Amino acid sequence: MNLTRSRFGKEADDLVIFYTSSLPFDRRLYAEDIQGSMAHAKMLAKSNIITDAEYQTLLMGLETIREEIENNTFVFKNESEDIHMAIESRLFEIIGNVAGKLHTARSRNDQIALDMRLYTKKYLNELMYLLSEVQKALVQKAEENKTLIMPGYTHLQSAQPVLFAHHMLAYFNMFKRDYERFADALKRTDVMPLGSGALAGTTYNTDREFLTKELGFEKVSKNSMDSVSDRDFILETLSAAAICMMHFSRLSEEIILWSSLEFSFITLDDAYATGSSIMPQKKNPDVAELAKGKTGRVYGALMQMLTVMKGLPLTYGRDMQEDKECYFDALDTLTITMRVYSGMISTMKLKSDRIAAAIGQGYILATDMADALVRKGLSFREAHKAVGLLTVYAAENNLTFTQVPMEKYLEISPLFDENIKNITVEQAVENRNQTGGTSFAQVEKQISAAKKALGI
Ligand code: ARG
Repeated sequence: MNLTRSRFGKEADDLVIFYTSSLPFDRRLYAEDIQGSMAHAKMLAKSNIITDAEYQTLLMGLETIREEIENNTFVFKNESEDIHMAIESRLFEIIGNVAGKLHTARSRNDQIALDMRLYTKKYLNELMYLLSEVQKALVQKAEENKTLIMPGYTHLQSAQPVLFAHHMLAYFNMFKRDYERFADALKRTDVMPLGSGALAGTTYNTDREFLTKELGFEKVSKNSMDSVSDRDFILETLSAAAICMMHFSRLSEEIILWSSLEFSFITLDDAYATGSSIMPQKKNPDVAELAKGKTGRVYGALMQMLTVMKGLPLTYGRDMQEDKECYFDALDTLTITMRVYSGMISTMKLKSDRIAAAIGQGYILATDMADALVRKGLSFREAHKAVGLLTVYAAENNLTFTQVPMEKYLEISPLFDENIKNITVEQAVENRNQTGGTSFAQVEKQISAAKKALGI
């Protein structure tokens, strides 16, 4: 039965039905759609627009449909344009003409706006929960390796020593901001649009405040035209998702580098690595590579949605149906990335001997030596030059800083002494003891603050 073609002389062309239908992908909104319809029916009864008996019949029919969908006995018919029509048509089959009362004071335009908001709220909460699990894994890794010193990099060149925990906590902080962005998006998603009708409100004496409470929203929307045509909440969620995915992508690149033979800083647990079909020795970080690769899907969804919305006059346009596949895909991609990452991070093993060896390879204490010369009276630029000359000499003669003879040091600057020459990575780390620095005490503080924030 087609419920929308009363003015037409014939059925739509098959290709048109196929082209315009969102049912193959919006069926995943069935639970939100039924929840919305139940609340709407309750409000209609409460406002004396339908009778109590009619409400009970609608409720029973909707409940049956929910069960049918969940038991996989519901037949999704091609000719249903979308999940709303599929459910309403089935409602007629189950309860007869009372079904025709459900769509009183409602349009699919406010209905889909509601469904997408309910769905987004559910997903934002899920994203926040899963992200906090990843944060926990990072903090636990940091805590397990509180004193492990590693080379810190700029330009992917060995730069200054840092605590491994400090490095992990850098990602904790990025994810903390992502969490806040999701929480912030949630605030503006938590606005109830139902009752806006097609665009102008409805002529019935409805109770939108009741619907707001019934559906668990924080606020009711204040402009019916805005309510049916706004998809900012999707854009905000996708922006936050894109930034978060970018953070996962950066972490992924580190995991890939660290698990290479050349770095060998970490070993991924066998459960989180993949093999090669030809090279028996291979243990590949495919999860991290895929996370990087999948980042494009999430960015793509954001671009797609911005493009869908950019030229739309008020109010609803069917263009907006294109808000779904890319959005669902982006949410799926991010949630599974978060899930797999919590496990991969918490099970990865550090190779502390290799990390320590990597520190010794370069001239990672150069800045600390320059700082020591400054404390003895040189300007920083003079000190920079002196340690620069020392580095050239050491590199040309294939020596570490400690292997360079003291006479050479003194030739470059009389202010060098044994303490400067023999400065250690532990001292270098310890000396960076301001808020946000990598000293043991500062990192300890970061760990406790992070644990407190996560409630662990
Ligand atoms: N499937 C539609 C969408 O997702 C639902 C709203 C349809 N409204 C309309 N007036 N055709 O956007």
